[in-house]
Amino acid sequence: MVGCVNKLLLILALLHQLRDGHCQQFGAELLRRIAPATSPDVQEEAVRQLIRRVVGNTAGNWFDVEVNKLLDTRSYQISLQQSGKVLIVGSDGVSICKGFHHYLKQVLHKDLEWFKTSIELPDNLQLPNVTLRSASASPIIYYQNVCTWSYSFVWWNLEQWRRHIDWMALMGINLSLAPNQEAIWQDVYTELGLSEAEIDAHFAGPAFQTWQRMGNIRGWAGPLPPAHRRLQQRLQQQILQAQRELGMSVALPAFAGHVPQPLQRIFPNASYSLAQRWNNFPDPYCCNLFVEPNDALFQQLATMFLRRVVQAYGSNHIYFCDPFNEMQPRLAEPDYMRATSQAIYNSMRTVDGEAVWLLQGWMFLQVDYWRDNLIEAFLTAVPRGRILVLDLQSEQFPQYQRTYSYYGQPFVWCMLNNFGGTLGMFGSARLINSGIGAARTMPNSSMVGVGITPEGINQNYVIFSLTLERGWSKNELQLSEWFDHFALTRYGVSDSRLTQYWQMLRGSVYDFHGLQRMRGKYVMNRRPGLNLKPWIWYNASIINEAWQLLLAAKEIVPLEDDRYAIYEHDLVDITRQFLQVSIDRIYVNLRSAYRKTQSDRFQYLAGKMLQMLDDMERILASGAHFLLGTWLEDAKQLAPSADQRIVYEFNARNQLTIWGPNGQILDYATKQWSGLVRDYYQPRWSMFLDAATLALESNVPFNATNFKLRVANEIELPFSNLTKLYPTKPVGNTWHISQQIYIKWNAFAKDSQFLHNNRVELGVNEGKARHRKRQPKQH
Ligand SMILES: *[C@@H]1O[C@H](CO)[C@@H](O)[C@H](O)[C@H]1NC(C)=O
Ligand SMILES: *[C@@H]1O[C@H](CO)[C@@H](O)[C@H](O)[C@H]1NC(C)=O
Ligand SMILES: *[C@@H]1O[C@H](CO)[C@@H](O)[C@H](O)[C@H]1NC(C)=O
Ligand SMILES: *[C@@H]1O[C@H](CO)[C@@H](O)[C@H](O)[C@H]1NC(C)=O
Ligand SMILES: *[C@@H]1O[C@H](CO)[C@@H](O)[C@H](O)[C@H]1NC(C)=O
Ligand SMILES: *[C@@H]1O[C@H](CO)[C@@H](O)[C@H](O)[C@H]1NC(C)=O
Ligand SMILES: *[C@@H]1O[C@H](CO)[C@@H](O)[C@H](O)[C@H]1NC(C)=O
Repeated sequence: MVGCVNKLLLILALLHQLRDGHCQQFGAELLRRIAPATSPDVQEEAVRQLIRRVVGNTAGNWFDVEVNKLLDTRSYQISLQQSGKVLIVGSDGVSICKGFHHYLKQVLHKDLEWFKTSIELPDNLQLPNVTLRSASASPIIYYQNVCTWSYSFVWWNLEQWRRHIDWMALMGINLSLAPNQEAIWQDVYTELGLSEAEIDAHFAGPAFQTWQRMGNIRGWAGPLPPAHRRLQQRLQQQILQAQRELGMSVALPAFAGHVPQPLQRIFPNASYSLAQRWNNFPDPYCCNLFVEPNDALFQQLATMFLRRVVQAYGSNHIYFCDPFNEMQPRLAEPDYMRATSQAIYNSMRTVDGEAVWLLQGWMFLQVDYWRDNLIEAFLTAVPRGRILVLDLQSEQFPQYQRTYSYYGQPFVWCMLNNFGGTLGMFGSARLINSGIGAARTMPNSSMVGVGITPEGINQNYVIFSLTLERGWSKNELQLSEWFDHFALTRYGVSDSRLTQYWQMLRGSVYDFHGLQRMRGKYVMNRRPGLNLKPWIWYNASIINEAWQLLLAAKEIVPLEDDRYAIYEHDLVDITRQFLQVSIDRIYVNLRSAYRKTQSDRFQYLAGKMLQMLDDMERILASGAHFLLGTWLEDAKQLAPSADQRIVYEFNARNQLTIWGPNGQILDYATKQWSGLVRDYYQPRWSMFLDAATLALESNVPFNATNFKLRVANEIELPFSNLTKLYPTKPVGNTWHISQQIYIKWNAFAKDSQFLHNNRVELGVNEGKARHRKRQPKQH
């Protein structure tokens, strides 16, 4: 009986949404299909445990929770009870968590983040009598990029995941991905008759799974131990369980058409095409086969695979599948597109009548290929509301306008922000704030959610926090106030220097707009040469001023609740940013000294550059989250047996540096981490500066070919195979190191050897966006 009333009210709530134009009918149907089926009791208990993990075992003295399906979808209500405890009622587990997080920030002034998912509350805390209520303006709040699984999550264990899932719930995220699939494919391939050797040659190493799954590469950095496939599947099941208990839905992988070459031996009569060579990957790492979707074999494989996926993982009726990620379809014809998407969708429906297809809109960025008629054919071949498109980088290259809101198919507005998880401070706060509102209210908008789709995490936290809050909020955020409050809740203290610090970042590094493709290509992280062209979009002096403010605020930051650790993290980060930009500036001076054959000046500046790299290493080594050692040890720890540790370490090192057998995607997922600076970036620059000095002094032109060969053979390629150990604990006092660096280099900034050329050549090229023909890529 109660259940019936609930259902009735649920329908009324949906009708209410429709009347508001909140989302159109097909959108509402989609939302109903993919909603999690976890019972309110289970969600409540999962939330209670989460709150305990966040504030400790006394959580029950302060907070009560309740799932109430009668509330508006995605909403919460918070009030103080007579008992003195705060009651958080929400429409589902995730909404309660979002409310709880909101309470922590707005009432107790303490925020959380990736590195900090627990907080300390004073024992004698009296919770004030406040009443809060809120409903999300976005039915779906989405998170993850298929690449995040390789760039950031790849080595995580369950405990690391547990903290991250908590964070996701606290941010209100209710849809994400579960891409693990190798154990399932192993079964499928074996059943079809592939040999063990053929299967081993197909799977890429642990750090490169994402691109093998998408059919871009095969076998690279393998073999993937069979035990790894089983363990990762088990881990995926545990992650899914934790997410669903909290009321999240998770999209599972579906078959996109990519198969190992030897399958042709078994099915010689099927129609295949050879996948395009991706980023010059050589054989045998290149070129899977693509089974044509209209071939019967496609349906056979797709259903065989998806049945097992659902069996292993359960289902929220949503499946992701990207047949043409960074590869061109065989035919540029609407009929071909229609047939392809129909075949994919039908294969999903065969297994699950309620299936919704989650599609990355990334391929549509190839505007030269994906003309309107192709996109329309591809998208409208599937019934409305049965595809959910991720508009993958809406803050810079939105596609929802040119595709007429994806021809009516629902989409999620996503902020991508970074590629490869590179570390520079970067973001577009204003564009995010206005873009989400504009997309929601455009005529015929089919937007049903907001998401974040970074290739990597653990950088620029503020911009992710901002996007997710904007996703929840109906109205534009007041950015100035929002950043003030961010500072307050980040350090747990109100101080004008700290708020000014964040305001300065807001107006500089976090105010990017333009079409330049930002890929973390800072001079220090790049292969040295005489023709690099660094650019920045902001006034670098602001970094110095902000840094000075942060240094000055040391005494005010509380030690309680580990707030000082966050402060230290930010101090490392701003020092890192300063050095990175300064190295860019030294470089343009060096380049000019070389061109003018000013040998003495060149040598002087070369010395300074190497000192800056020393300082970079020193400051990073003092930060717990800037260590190569952690990445490598996490990788080795995941190896199922001791003799496989070497393969895992190779994977971990290769992804950060040469990305492929020969630098195919050189320095793409580059990281400013201690260890990497000392043993990779600095030696490269050192070799270059020596060679260039020699060229200047002996008056022969610098031989770039020769340098490339040497740097590749002596530094870049060997690095993947080394096994040197690095610390996993920070070394040195961050504040002192940062202060020393500040004093030293601010004096140098007035040095005449350095001063000229700064503005002209660094190319602060606001408004000079290069409109390139080539379209952006993510790897
Ligand atoms: C998120 O919450 C909304 C509202 O409850 C629901 O309709 C939608 O299905 C949920 N989405 C997911 C993916 O769980
Ligand atoms: C909180 O304040 C409201 C309004 O003033 C009052 O009605 C309510 O009784 C208070 N609750 C508690 C637990 O003090
Ligand atoms: C492929 O087609 C040929 C010619 O029609 C036929 O003889 C052969 O049996 C087919 N092979 C398979 C595996 O179906
Ligand atoms: C919105 O949709 C209607 C009905 O399909 C159509 O007539 C109208 O032109 C569309 N408006 C815009 C701005 O696309
Ligand atoms: C850069 O910022 C500094 C410090 O705020 C200021 O003095 C300077 O005029 C700015 N330069 C430009 C070109 O805006
Ligand atoms: C530059 O170095 C390459 C590779 O070592 C060599 O083959 C070439 O002859 C050199 N060029 C000149 C001009 O010395
Ligand atoms: C590094 O190890 C890989 C795989 O073990 C091997 O193929 C490669 O030749 C080695 N590279 C170098 C530069 O030693």
